[in-house]
Amino acid sequence: MPSQKHAAKTKTPDRSASGLIDESQIVAPPTVHESMPNPEKLLLETEDAPKITDRLNIFPFDWRVETPRLMEIYENSRDPGWSPSQLPWDTLDPDSFTLDQRYAIAYWWSLLSVFDASGPAVFARAMIHAYEVHEEDAIRKCFFSVTRDEMNHEEVCGKAINKMTPNGPLGYEPQTLLGKLARNNVEWLYHNGARYWNGYKKAVEYYPMPILFSSFLFGEVASSTLFHSMYESTDIPVFKEAFRNIGRDEGRHLSFCLALLKEILPRLGDEDKSIITKQFRAGFVFLSGILYEPPGEFWQLPETFLPAQRLLEEKAREAGFGVLTLEKRRENWRTAVIRLKSVVEPYGIKFPALPEIDVDGEDVDFDADKIVPIF
Ligand SMILES: [Fe+2]
Ligand SMILES: [Fe+2]
Repeated sequence: MPSQKHAAKTKTPDRSASGLIDESQIVAPPTVHESMPNPEKLLLETEDAPKITDRLNIFPFDWRVETPRLMEIYENSRDPGWSPSQLPWDTLDPDSFTLDQRYAIAYWWSLLSVFDASGPAVFARAMIHAYEVHEEDAIRKCFFSVTRDEMNHEEVCGKAINKMTPNGPLGYEPQTLLGKLARNNVEWLYHNGARYWNGYKKAVEYYPMPILFSSFLFGEVASSTLFHSMYESTDIPVFKEAFRNIGRDEGRHLSFCLALLKEILPRLGDEDKSIITKQFRAGFVFLSGILYEPPGEFWQLPETFLPAQRLLEEKAREAGFGVLTLEKRRENWRTAVIRLKSVVEPYGIKFPALPEIDVDGEDVDFDADKIVPIF
């Protein structure tokens, strides 16, 4: 049996003036073997390791892939092909806009950031959760990829807001009436964003992956629709370029969701299916905050919010920043939602009624406490 000498010295090794280590000061390793251990003998003496009983322990790892298509999309996402800092920001001259136009454009990006700038934290949290519940490697990787993309989208929000309103959205003093209205609206948006985050943190641990992915799917349908329309309607070159790239990323996120759901929806029980119907209604209510207009079911907003937002949108439009009209937004949102409906209905998932955009379906109640979807 190999002898073991336990080290007793605890002095910290120090270095002599010449820079060489003083060997007499080195602490010995915990065990010193005089000969190679005998594996047979060792095996007879092994003890069982404590059982891993904590469901949320991230160990042991495995790298199983159950949905190869997810891995393929992940491979293609390694290089997103663009970077926020490489966009043509030098073509954007804030002085060529009036103060109100600058406030209005910064306002739209602040509204967007409720959805897109929370993306990194939302998907990072989902990724950690996927590790904790031992999801397949492909799901962990896909959340990682979306987190990285969302970090780029968040960066664009920050750059756009700070170009137009340095230290924005809240660290500057607006000089005009419209600027002050924008400030008040942004504060209300952030109040609601905080409520979303509190609900999301509970939801991500509460719902199984098929329900989370169905909700994310709604978010990605919304975001790809939004960025495509913003790309088409804005005349400001740097923003056009940003929308093109962000829109392409969102399209890839949509592919992630579809690839996974195609595998898991056919195996879903009735109870989970009805939760998805409810979550779609919740998704619609939350995402309408930017895709259309915020319904009261979730959004806590003052009476002045919508009239102020209409003024700001009109001002942004006048500056060549293509915020769509309310009618056009409703039409776009409806088209996107109907497309989603046609994807999920063949799996026996009922769609909720969305009377706001004239879509028929089931009447479901709304749980503001557990909202999942995001860009
Ligand atoms: Fe996304
Ligand atoms: Fe995004």
